[in-house]
Amino acid sequence: MTESPPARVFADRSEACRTLALELVGLVVSIQATGRHAVLGLATGRTPLPFYAELIRLHREGKLSFARIITFNLDEYLGLPARHPESYHSFMRRELFDHVDIPAANIHIPDGMVTPEKLAAHCAAYEDAIRAAGGIDFQLLGIGRTGHIGFNEPGSPRDSRTRRVELDPITRQDAAPSFGGLDQVPTHAISMGCGTILEARKIALLAWGDAKAAIVNEALTGPVTDRVSASFLQEHPDATFYLDAEAGKAL
Ligand code: F6R
Repeated sequence: MTESPPARVFADRSEACRTLALELVGLVVSIQATGRHAVLGLATGRTPLPFYAELIRLHREGKLSFARIITFNLDEYLGLPARHPESYHSFMRRELFDHVDIPAANIHIPDGMVTPEKLAAHCAAYEDAIRAAGGIDFQLLGIGRTGHIGFNEPGSPRDSRTRRVELDPITRQDAAPSFGGLDQVPTHAISMGCGTILEARKIALLAWGDAKAAIVNEALTGPVTDRVSASFLQEHPDATFYLDAEAGKAL
């Protein structure tokens, strides 16, 4: 039998992000006190924006340093160079890395321009780098309307690892406005697998707004199935959903 991960419903996303950011500072400090770097798994998309704004604020107030933090992003679009404005490399620089003291060598994001011949080795090296860093202490997640975490679309196996994935038509539709049209949205990405994500020691999934309420409810209370990769979080010992009132309204 599985127990659903706890869902914490906040009045709004600012309160959720303030709470989680303070918890993360506590975790980072306690890990660093043991003499090692803290390893964070990071997400992109609209959802983590207020959370990253909060981390930047804490950094400016002297409460959070990234000097001894190592990061691994969940995914990157295939075919986009790092300098493309919609690449997740650009996103992370713009929304977080350019505003904090993280050493460039500590940042890991899959390379969207890797050639087909080098792709398998690149994905294996990504997994190796996570392992060499000691595994992910804290993984931040959003959730797609297809129930994906990372870009693990329906049908992604529970034990999948970092690999090339095909984006679901719904995911591409959701990305179309920022790309200026559906035909501009990449068809494939590199994504950490469900297995990679589930090995993180602590997981926080964020979701805001009405549009996420149904899929959040399904992930938390529906069957554990590869049709909704976020449902695998029900089997994780330390995963928590941080929701605003709208995203939590179907629970
Ligand atoms: C992003 C990612 C995706 C997003 C999800 C939600 O790195 O892996 O799983 O978290 O598509 O996207 P938003 O936040 O834009 O609704």
